[in-house]
Amino acid sequence: MPIIEGKRKRCLSLTLTSDIYLKNFLAKGPAMKSMNLVMCSIIGYVGVKDVAQILLDGLERLEYRGYDSAGITGLKDGTFTSVKQLGRVKNLSNAIKPSMNFGNLGIGHTRWATHGKVSVKNAHPHVSFHGLFSIVHNGVIENYESIKQYLAKQGYKFYSETDTEVLVNLIEYHFRKEPDSENRFLVSVQKALLHVRGTYGIAVLCKNNPEEMVIARKSSPLIIGIGKNEMFVASDACAFVAYTKNVVYLNDGELAHITCSDFSITTMKNETIDAVKCELDWKVEDVSRGEHEHFMLKEICEQPISIENAMRGRFSDDLSTAKFGGLQLLPRELRQIDRILFCACGTAWHACLVAEYLIEKYARIPVEVAYSSEFRYGNVPLDKNTLVFIVSQSGETLDSLAALQESKRKGYRTLAITNAIGSTIARESEGGIYQHSGPEIGVASTKAFTAQLCIVAMLALLFGRLHNMGFDEGSEFVQSLLELPKKISQILDKKDEIQRIAKKYANCKDMLFLGRQSMFPIALEGALKLKEISYIHAEGYPAAEMKHGPIALISEQCPCVFLATQKDIWQKNISNIQEVKARNAKIVVVASEGHQISPDHIDDLMEIPDTHDALKPILATIPLQLFAYYIAKARGCDIDKPRNLAKSVTVE
Ligand code: M6R
Repeated sequence: MPIIEGKRKRCLSLTLTSDIYLKNFLAKGPAMKSMNLVMCSIIGYVGVKDVAQILLDGLERLEYRGYDSAGITGLKDGTFTSVKQLGRVKNLSNAIKPSMNFGNLGIGHTRWATHGKVSVKNAHPHVSFHGLFSIVHNGVIENYESIKQYLAKQGYKFYSETDTEVLVNLIEYHFRKEPDSENRFLVSVQKALLHVRGTYGIAVLCKNNPEEMVIARKSSPLIIGIGKNEMFVASDACAFVAYTKNVVYLNDGELAHITCSDFSITTMKNETIDAVKCELDWKVEDVSRGEHEHFMLKEICEQPISIENAMRGRFSDDLSTAKFGGLQLLPRELRQIDRILFCACGTAWHACLVAEYLIEKYARIPVEVAYSSEFRYGNVPLDKNTLVFIVSQSGETLDSLAALQESKRKGYRTLAITNAIGSTIARESEGGIYQHSGPEIGVASTKAFTAQLCIVAMLALLFGRLHNMGFDEGSEFVQSLLELPKKISQILDKKDEIQRIAKKYANCKDMLFLGRQSMFPIALEGALKLKEISYIHAEGYPAAEMKHGPIALISEQCPCVFLATQKDIWQKNISNIQEVKARNAKIVVVASEGHQISPDHIDDLMEIPDTHDALKPILATIPLQLFAYYIAKARGCDIDKPRNLAKSVTVE
């Protein structure tokens, strides 16, 4: 990200004159550019409890992220005790002997191999050559090879193939050069990080400081959990929510020095930062699977509640429009907006496409939708009354964060729609709307997506009422929104039937999803859900586009899922269904109650309750989520941890 990169360069020239040799050396050395999804997890603890138990508990709660090895290190009486294992956290727990005493300060990690193969040696935590430091690290140190060469010349030896071991040695190198002082530990980490290019979330222990931990972040989330006489750190608050809900999110370029009773935050230049504390509105049950086999199924089933939460307190007293205090815009200012740009990635981008249909239809305001990754490097011309929304469930997606920063740099009012209170995107935006979906743990986004759909429908209502939508139309819209949770429950009650249908399609290799207007993004989402968790190749198209190319794929082996929920374009959908049927493809239809589809034209039907047109995308999504889930289950896929995917993508 250009802004942060600029800061880093200034720091180098300001503070590192004493390290001119290392600086020159690194300037010549190669930088290894890596493009991996960050799937690793960090947990750390300092307090009075048995650290091993807390670390293992935290790592178990973060298991959904996917990993190939795990490890913990405790620091007691000046000695590091470490255990690392390949595979599951359970293997790690089993490897811990009762005689081991990890003390009350420690760090833990689950690793997804990036630099170096999957092996115990490469697993974290890593210890420095002289044994003074232990570290866990998420992210990628791009210039690790040149640092490694430099350190090797200073006599350092390396036992793993990782970039992380290089970083911990760089910290030790600075520590050994640093005069003894109260801040020696923190300053050494600061100095090491000033030489580093890449991304990191790190937690570091130092033998000489047996009651302290230092953490730092750049483009990889880290959160401090504040307890009573104990502190937690984690890459995801799920890890410690059972112990505390009081948190502080670390910003990019910040470090924190933590003891059991206190913490302080500084920048790389050692400026003190005032911590912004917030309280998570999560319950412990939110981060456990409960009676459900997978988080994804649990989260699908939570949608009556998550939709209710997305709406709570957000209607006018006369129930004729929506209100969002977080926008921090007066009705007069909202009326002046004559263009809206939405930026997002993946599933959130699909929610933005629905926003485009709804806001243009109900409020007559032109809407553009951009992939965050395209927007950040493009030069979309926007006029001065453009409002920009960045939509991100996690609030940490790097491309969306960069889009937000680019939009702010250009001077647009930039707001966020996010589920993660206090996340980087939430903090850096100029206001916005929280989804209140509760933590979403399954990698495949479900309840967060429908909450986004609900919010964008409410934005269409809000803008519509400011322009040309009358009181009665607004009241009918609100009424339909209020009925959504009950209608979602009705669909969920039919999940066994959807499972029966899904099983019939579990062996296919390709599938097409087709829909018109606001059902087109839902077709994209249905296809994305299926490919993410079942690995079946699936594509979504506007139904009428089929005859411009995709129809060539249609055969008995390529089933088509039609989203035929709208009354006004009913006949158009029927014609497309017939075109496909004539080519012997199996047809699954999602239709609203009261439809007139003849059973002769289709193979399977998933019915949803009728609702306001603007809300059909929400209801039509639920059977598609269940359909994808049960297909993946029938294929024996690892549903909560699909291959190659991460819950939040904090690298480019
Ligand atoms: O956290 P975000 O909403 O910014 O994430 C965006 C995408 O990475 C995310 O929606 C992704 O496509 C999911 N795996 C979809 O299920």
